[in-house]
Amino acid sequence: MTETLVFGRNGQLGQSMAACSHHYPELQLKFASRNECDFTDLDSILRIIDNEEPDAIVNTAAYTAVDLAETNSDIAKLVNCEAVRTIALAAAKRSLPVVHISTDYVFDGQGAFPYRETDKVGPLGIYGQTKLAGEIALSSVTDAHLIFRTAWGYSPYGDNFLKTIMRLLSTKNEIAVVDDQTGCPTSFLDLAAAILNILPAITRPGFDKFGTYHLCSDAPMTWYQFSMKIQAEASRILGDSWSGTECKIKPVTSESFQQPASRPVNSVMATDKFKACFGFGLPAFRQSLITTLTKLSEGQDHA
Ligand SMILES: NC(=O)c1ccc[n+]([C@@H]2O[C@H](COP(=O)([O-])OP(=O)(O)OC[C@H]3O[C@@H](n4cnc5c(N)ncnc54)[C@H](OP(=O)(O)O)[C@@H]3O)[C@@H](O)[C@H]2O)c1
Repeated sequence: MTETLVFGRNGQLGQSMAACSHHYPELQLKFASRNECDFTDLDSILRIIDNEEPDAIVNTAAYTAVDLAETNSDIAKLVNCEAVRTIALAAAKRSLPVVHISTDYVFDGQGAFPYRETDKVGPLGIYGQTKLAGEIALSSVTDAHLIFRTAWGYSPYGDNFLKTIMRLLSTKNEIAVVDDQTGCPTSFLDLAAAILNILPAITRPGFDKFGTYHLCSDAPMTWYQFSMKIQAEASRILGDSWSGTECKIKPVTSESFQQPASRPVNSVMATDKFKACFGFGLPAFRQSLITTLTKLSEGQDHA
């Protein structure tokens, strides 16, 4: 039985891990919410690790508000970097492996290729900068880490692009969606299952695959293209009675959508390293999209 302390109970990924966990009876997961352990109070991290005495740690918690981070940089740095360093130090003291989630926003988006793990980083905003600082803090303290850089997460849980588009499609006649940023929309149910799949192995002596990996879908597209695919599949699943089928989706440039934080134009990441090391990749994009939309249509829509 691998006892794992998961930071981040109510986030998209935390809830996705909880939803998938019944497929992994050999894992015992203890989820810690912000109420139980607030990353702005670094001592609370040490206390919970001391109390739980886990075999492994998964950190899904982060300051994820990309635009707000521009004005709340101190909190973003504390949560995304200093808290991660604290986890790393406590884990190293106890020889615990740490799985940590990072982001495609560590890249500046100017590369015209799928980014590899070895490619130059250059975050454009505070969120990406603090996430990169968290990666560096973790990897410089302990070798026993897996950093999974993911992208464009969607799930039945929390706030995400897919749920926003579904709501807008059902309530508007026309919506405008950015068509000049390309990334890989990733089901966090898939990401959760991949993490849970790997967890038992990382606590075994001799595990030699620690490091940084890109772990996202292999389906590059723009936000506009993603919204079109959401509409097409949702129309098929929900049928004629769904009002969202009629909504017109208009492609627009990022310039017409002024946001405080700059986003990378191209944050497509190559996942070959993960597949080669672990022997599997995330499921095909379309099937994952259908799975999430089906769960939403069955009323599995959670805050
Ligand atoms: N969503 C994306 O599109 C995306 C893309 C690339 C990378 N990522 C990365 O993937 C990971 C998971 O993202 P997500 O979408 O699941 O995030 P999310 O839905 O925004 O949830 C954020 C999580 O962080 C926790 N948290 C925030 N502030 C905290 C604090 N001060 N103390 C303790 N916990 C705190 C929240 O706690 P509660 O459980 O108490 O609410 C929640 O569990 C993050 O590392 C994120 O950077 C996400």
